[in-house]
Amino acid sequence: MTIIDTHSHIYGEEFREDIFEVVTRAKEAGVNKIFLPNINAASISPMLELCRAYPGFCYPTIGLHPEDIADDWREVLAEMETRLKDTNHPFIGVGEVGLDYYWSRELYEEQQEAFAIQIDWALEYNLPLIIHTRDAHREMVEIVKSKSPNNKSLNSKSSNSKLTGVFHCFSGSEEEARELLDFPDFMLGIGGVVTFKKSKLPEVLRSTVPLNRIVVETDSPYMAPVPYRGKRNESAYVKAVVEKLAEIYGVSVSEVAEITSNNALKTFPRAI
Ligand code: NI
Repeated sequence: MTIIDTHSHIYGEEFREDIFEVVTRAKEAGVNKIFLPNINAASISPMLELCRAYPGFCYPTIGLHPEDIADDWREVLAEMETRLKDTNHPFIGVGEVGLDYYWSRELYEEQQEAFAIQIDWALEYNLPLIIHTRDAHREMVEIVKSKSPNNKSLNSKSSNSKLTGVFHCFSGSEEEARELLDFPDFMLGIGGVVTFKKSKLPEVLRSTVPLNRIVVETDSPYMAPVPYRGKRNESAYVKAVVEKLAEIYGVSVSEVAEITSNNALKTFPRAI
């Protein structure tokens, strides 16, 4: 059995003391690849360092997280795009990017602009997106729609590639799920929330989301699944998500692992 954790920040300081054990435990749990979404300018080096230490196991993406947008965001994006222009770049996707109005709408326009620019990278460099959304479902859907290929007139940088990727940490309603599934080349990223006792996500998934549209993720060090809830999350715990999905869909754990891994590789073809 092989599982792909499609969203894990194990390059972070929280793991500095025991990263070797964290990776070992992930492998023991059946994880055979971990995707590492970038956050900001400072996280690029530790992320790439971890990928160099575990080639063929850890894979980096590049992008600026909406919560990390500050006054210098244009310079940060310019520096990131320079890396993408190198045809030998190691990045398997653009992320994590998106909109987050949970704490503040102060940088509403900057977040929208940065998101749009980074969607253009996905098209121009032919990479999948990892999209983070919090308290911004409507706005996020509108931006992705406006950049989608059937809306090419609005897409300033014309390109033959299509938008693909993951709606990371999905935990919305049936209606929201349907809206996201309408983007035919996107997966829903399912993590620890699905294991929480009061979560409505199991019902939403069972009724609305086929297993062939799901990838699994931890979002380590956050969002640890039951029975680790409240603790530091790590990639090994993605197994608890896979087990919960097996229960929800009434299939074996290894079937969930296989289908979600195939979905992940289909979406991130550079992760080979
Ligand atoms: Ni994340």
